[in-house]
Amino acid sequence: MATTGSALGFSTLEQELGETELTCRGQVPAWLEGDLLRTGPARFEVGKVSYRHWFDGLAMLHRFRIHGGRVVYTNRYLHSNAYQEAESAGTIRRPEFATNPRPTLLQRLRLSSRPRSGDNGNVNTSRIGHHTAALTETPHPVAFDPDSLATLDSEALQPSLPGQITTAHPHFDTRRQCQYNYLLEFGRVSRYRLYRMDAGSTDPQVVATIDTRRPAYMHSFGMSDRYLILTEFPLVTNPLSFLLLNRPFIRNYRWEPDRGTRFHVIDKDTGKVVKTCQTDAFFSFHHVNAFEQDGKLHVDLVAFADASVVDDLYLDHLRSGAVITATGKLTRCTIDLAGDDPVTLRVLDGASVELPRFDYRRRAGHAYRYVYAAGNSPGASFFDTLHRFDLDTGETDTWSETGCYTGEPVFVPRPGARGEDDGVILSVVLDTTTGHSILLVLDASSFAELARLNVPHAVPFGFHGNFFSLPPG
Ligand code: CO
Repeated sequence: MATTGSALGFSTLEQELGETELTCRGQVPAWLEGDLLRTGPARFEVGKVSYRHWFDGLAMLHRFRIHGGRVVYTNRYLHSNAYQEAESAGTIRRPEFATNPRPTLLQRLRLSSRPRSGDNGNVNTSRIGHHTAALTETPHPVAFDPDSLATLDSEALQPSLPGQITTAHPHFDTRRQCQYNYLLEFGRVSRYRLYRMDAGSTDPQVVATIDTRRPAYMHSFGMSDRYLILTEFPLVTNPLSFLLLNRPFIRNYRWEPDRGTRFHVIDKDTGKVVKTCQTDAFFSFHHVNAFEQDGKLHVDLVAFADASVVDDLYLDHLRSGAVITATGKLTRCTIDLAGDDPVTLRVLDGASVELPRFDYRRRAGHAYRYVYAAGNSPGASFFDTLHRFDLDTGETDTWSETGCYTGEPVFVPRPGARGEDDGVILSVVLDTTTGHSILLVLDASSFAELARLNVPHAVPFGFHGNFFSLPPG
C-alpha cells in the first residue's frame, strides 16, 4: 500500500537497525553528549487485526547517541509482554487505550477485572531507580538496556502500591531528589494515590490519597516547588463499566462538562490538600510547568475546549489526510492560594500546539520564560511546525519546512549554561519529500537550524523521549 503525506508517520516500521552512524548536514555542537531515547508506536497491525488508535501501536525504542559531533542511531521493538504475546499468538492479546483483543469468555472475565493490564511502553522514557524504562499509562514500566535497547526483566519496577492507571509523565524534583507520580485504584470509591520515590529507589511512599466516585482521565499532572497539582478534567468513568462491558479502555470514559475542571493542590511535604477549586470544563493531556508567584499558583498546560481530541487521534482519521484538530492552546490557569478568587484561565499564545517542553532540569516548579512545542499550520494534516514561545515578551519563533512533520522538541541545556534558552532543541521530523526521518538540531535561542541527521527510514510518529547524559568515563 503506497502511503503519502503525513499518513507515512502512521505506518508500521518493521526495520530494526543496529548502530548506524547518521550522515549530517550542518554541525552538531561538540558539547552535546548523551542519548536521546525515544519510544513510540511502530506496529499498528498484528496478523489480521489492526490497532485503532495512535496511542495503541506496539512500542519501538529509538536511540540517538550523540558523541564528538557524531550521531549513531539504533532502533528496536520493546519486547513487552504485550509485544511477545502478540508475536506468539499472531493477534492482539492485551487491551490498549482504544483497542481490545477479541476475548474468549474466560479472557473476558479476566480482562474486565483488569482494565489496561498491558505494558506496551509507547508513551515515554524515564529513569526509575537505577533502571531505564519505557512507560505507558499502566503501572507496568518495562526496563531496557540503553546500550543495546534489549528489554530487561522489569519485576523490580512494579510498584508495591495498588492501582491500575498511572501517568507516563512522572515529575522529578531536583531539590528533594525524588520522583512523583500518581496511581489510580478503581473501586466503588476509587483512589488517586500521589506518591514519591527517592532517587535511586523503586520503593513508592504515599504522599496523599484523594477519593472519588468518578475518576477522571488524566494523562499528566502539575508540579511546583511546593505542590503537586492534580487537574481533574470532566472526562470521567464509572469503574463499574469496566466490570460489565468489554469496551476499550477510553470508551468507558464520558465527557460531563457540568462537572467543570477541578484542581487539587497538594503540599509535597505534608501531604495536605491545601486547596480544591474548580473552573469551567476544559481538557488537557499535557501540563507544562507550574510555579508560585505572589500568593498565586500558576499552572500552565495545553488546553482543549473538550475531550473530542481523543476521537481525533483514531488512526483512520489521522491517515485520511483530514485537517488535524489535535492541538490546543498554551494556557495559564491561576489559582489563588492565599484567598478565594476564582481560577482564571489565560491563553498565553494563539498558536495551536501539543507536546510542550521547557528547561525542565533547571526550571521545573519555578518561574520560567521559554516553552517549546510542536504545532500545526492552518489546514495541515499533522504537526508541521516547531514553536518557541518567550512568555516574558510574547515573542515567538517557528521552524517549518515544506513536507516536514514535526515531533516533540526536547530541550537540552548546554553544560554551564546561564541563560534559560542556552542549549539545543532535538526533534525527530518526518520529511515526506524523501520518505525518511531526520533528527533536527536547532539552536534553542535563535531557533536556527544547526544540523540535520538523516535517518535511513521513516520513524513512525511517537510521543515522548528524554535526553540522558552519558555517564562519565
Ligand atoms: Co504525553
